[in-house]
Amino acid sequence: MHQQCEMDEGRVRRRKESQNGSTGHNVDSQSEDRQPEKVIALQKDVGLVSGICLIVGTMIGSGIFISPKSVLLYSGAIGPCLLVWAACGVLSTLGALCYAELGTMITKSGAEYVYLMEAFGSVVAYLYSWTTLIVLKPSSFAIITLSFAEYASTPFYPGCAPPVVVTKCLSAAAIFSIVIVNCFSVKLASYVQNIFTAAKLLIIIIIVVAGIVLLAQGKTENFSNAFESTSVSVGAIGLAFYNGLWAYDGWNQLNFITEELKNPSRNLPLAIIIGIPLVSVCYVLVNMAYFTVMTTTELLLSPAVAVTFGDRVLYPLSWIVPVFVVFSTFGSANGSCFTAGRLAYVSGREGHMVKILSYISLKRFTPLPALLFNGILSIIYIIPADINTLINYFSFAQWLFYGMTALSLIVLRFTRKELHRPVKVPIVIAVLMVLVSLYLVLAPIIDKPQLEYLYCSIFIFSGLFFYYPFVHRKVTWGRRLMSKFTHNTSVLRGNKHISSMKC
Ligand code: ARG
Repeated sequence: MHQQCEMDEGRVRRRKESQNGSTGHNVDSQSEDRQPEKVIALQKDVGLVSGICLIVGTMIGSGIFISPKSVLLYSGAIGPCLLVWAACGVLSTLGALCYAELGTMITKSGAEYVYLMEAFGSVVAYLYSWTTLIVLKPSSFAIITLSFAEYASTPFYPGCAPPVVVTKCLSAAAIFSIVIVNCFSVKLASYVQNIFTAAKLLIIIIIVVAGIVLLAQGKTENFSNAFESTSVSVGAIGLAFYNGLWAYDGWNQLNFITEELKNPSRNLPLAIIIGIPLVSVCYVLVNMAYFTVMTTTELLLSPAVAVTFGDRVLYPLSWIVPVFVVFSTFGSANGSCFTAGRLAYVSGREGHMVKILSYISLKRFTPLPALLFNGILSIIYIIPADINTLINYFSFAQWLFYGMTALSLIVLRFTRKELHRPVKVPIVIAVLMVLVSLYLVLAPIIDKPQLEYLYCSIFIFSGLFFYYPFVHRKVTWGRRLMSKFTHNTSVLRGNKHISSMKC
């Protein structure tokens, strides 16, 4: 028996049973009658600590353990390398401040997607969600789990690199288990996030303290002539930034789940202001620690920088480094999965992706189809993936959208003056973010044009082929198919475009 369900932006409001007569549902319909309406939506389960852990825990993943090599390679010397790391921290903080304004002004989940929609309209928001859901989110999930797999399998293959098939299978297993945890419960996913964030902060503190002790003992010889052979190519500096910014990426994570955050106008800016400077200070200090024990040549030759550091400084406890890197990457992958599911959910809700992505598991209150969608795509990405290439193209597209989002802040200051802004940042910060993003997107292309950037751009715009028939015209067969599916399932709830479903 079917009953009309009325939904509002992903919320399913169940009408009073009395309005529609009996239901075929086996819950106590009398007690339901007494409730004026039941809202089925993602719950507000995330508090300040979990919010900070989501930011810090996603930012600290594989990057700080693998990117130092690439940042050094492209910047040419220790001095500019440390400056790039510090500048990346400042940039991420400024970017996140813009997001604090946007996220407290527009309190919908979905981060860039909802801000671009508000400032530039449906097409731009759609292109963002198309690129992010099909490429950026799953590829970042894949990159992090590949690093997880590399660190997890290395101890079992002493003296040689683990076979590719082993790392890829391990990576797929990590994706699988993270998706299961996230489908199972938001609370469980938050606990996993908090525990792994604590673990990664511990290893960072160990590395930093060891570095400070060595510096205090006078191991400063690697810092002399710190600016010798600095790279002067704009493109190389751009690539150095890409790799550093990969390690910082994740500073916008909380904006993806604003609807699930308790008291967002307080907790969102607070989590940003605590989380990102904390990570920035840690990153610069970790890099200094690496340089106290490794010369530039040694660092460039090291297969895994953090492990080499552990071997030289923490022996006989050097095994703790790879173990904690495994924890760190796993936690970061969990955070990525958590938020990717929310973006798919929001854009499904707005009709920009297939409707089923906006369905919530009735039992678990998790966006189950959205999470599965992201997991399946990520598994596909690990098959051909090469980490470094993925990171460079990831950053190119990602910074295009960060820049546009900063621009949306400026546009909204003029077009939506009336909106309440609990946090208002100086507009010059947004202007700076737009300019920096422009540099980051253009510099590597101008310096060394590569076909891959063109493919990347073509991919972004190819989304338009689907926009007209599927989003603008909303072809009916898709919806008919989808409502058939929902007739046959009583575990998921969709939104207002599906008018009839089993309740
Ligand atoms: N910063 C993380 C790392 O170093 C990667 C974060 C990827 N970005 C994301 N939105 N999940 O591994």
